[in-house]
Amino acid sequence: MKLLVTGGAGFIGSNFVRWLFSEGTKLYGAHRVVVLDSLTYAGNLANLAGLDKEYDFRFVKGDITDEAAVAEVIASETFDAVVNFAAETHVDRSIVSPLEFVRTNVEGTQVLVNAARKANIKRYLQISTDEVYGSLGPTGRFMETTPLDPSSAYSASKTGADLLVLAAHRTHGYHVNVTRCSNNYGPYQFPEKLIPLFVTNALEDKPLPLYGDGKNIRSWLHVDDHSRAIGLVLEQGRPGEVYNVGGAPESEKENIEVTMAVLKLLGKPETLIKPVEDRHGHDRRYAVDYSKIEREFGWKPQVCFEEGLKQTVDWYVNNKSWWQNIKSGEYLKFYDLYYGERLKK
Ligand code: NAD
Ligand code: DAU
Repeated sequence: MKLLVTGGAGFIGSNFVRWLFSEGTKLYGAHRVVVLDSLTYAGNLANLAGLDKEYDFRFVKGDITDEAAVAEVIASETFDAVVNFAAETHVDRSIVSPLEFVRTNVEGTQVLVNAARKANIKRYLQISTDEVYGSLGPTGRFMETTPLDPSSAYSASKTGADLLVLAAHRTHGYHVNVTRCSNNYGPYQFPEKLIPLFVTNALEDKPLPLYGDGKNIRSWLHVDDHSRAIGLVLEQGRPGEVYNVGGAPESEKENIEVTMAVLKLLGKPETLIKPVEDRHGHDRRYAVDYSKIEREFGWKPQVCFEEGLKQTVDWYVNNKSWWQNIKSGEYLKFYDLYYGERLKK
């Protein structure tokens, strides 16, 4: 397959591209991949280092909100599919500056799906999130039919994007799919998200700012399990269908459990945990019913959370220069703005 992968210099996109050139090739044959990414604070060419030398791969710097740039890359080769990972992705940032989320996640998605359809690219896959369903109480799981009820500017903008993509199917009969996954973890995740932030803070003996009572629940999905699901939907997804992709029931954990597990793996003391003011509009619990993708394509998560977390922690221990570069740059400004007052209280 020849793929245009937007947002491929970020966490999941770059893991997906590497997965395509290894496991994906074994399953589906050779791939050509072009990554289009504007390299925001979250995009990092180091995540794709060496791929152009070893594989049929090309990187193009460009913004999905820029119609001319998108048209140019789409006209440059014949693609079989577009996979869109490009997005503003951090909930806390969407509380501080929501407009960028509307631009990239809503406008950018519309530009991309429109251009892909007009160029007759056979398939378009939108990478979405379980956050579009809102928050769960102590029981139940999100199904594809669960009403959309987003809480943050991030999840509201992702919901808007999903609806625009699905509208391209209803209006034009275009072959689109939407995948909605739960919290991913693994290597190359930007250290603003819970697991890499807490691992890297602990390695530096800095406080771990745990929101509220620490009992919010997330369903953890290893990024390689997610990549496998994306491969299946790309190959077999039925037109206009949404597929949920989630962690196994045993991977549904309270944040405090994840925090304790990280500290234990690193041999660091619990005194590093610093309870701070809660995130505004903090969704209490996510859990995903993935029976549709299991029934249709036989997918289910394979990486057990304890093993996946250990491998992930080891990766951050062994790749200090990757995250130290990031944490000493632009990210410091956001960290001070968002956590500065919280950590003083
Ligand atoms: P990330 O923040 O690590 O990477 C996002 C990438 O998109 C970066 O490389 C960035 O440079 C690029 N980008 C941002 N704006 C762009 C624009 N206007 N034009 C071109 N490129 C742009 O994100 P991630 O965690 O890898 O998430 C990828 C996708 O998966 C997102 O759509 C996100 O909503 C979704 N998702 C993520 C998770 C998770 O746990 N990380 C879970 C569910 C869904
Ligand atoms: O569920 C899928 C979503 O998962 C994706 O769509 C988002 O792009 C991704 O960022 C993630 O959203 P969350 O808000 O769940 O992830 P985050 O890592 O920011 O937070 C995970 C949990 O940890 C959440 O309950 C908030 C809490 N947390 C997070 C941070 C950054 C803390 O307690 N302290 C922190 O400093």
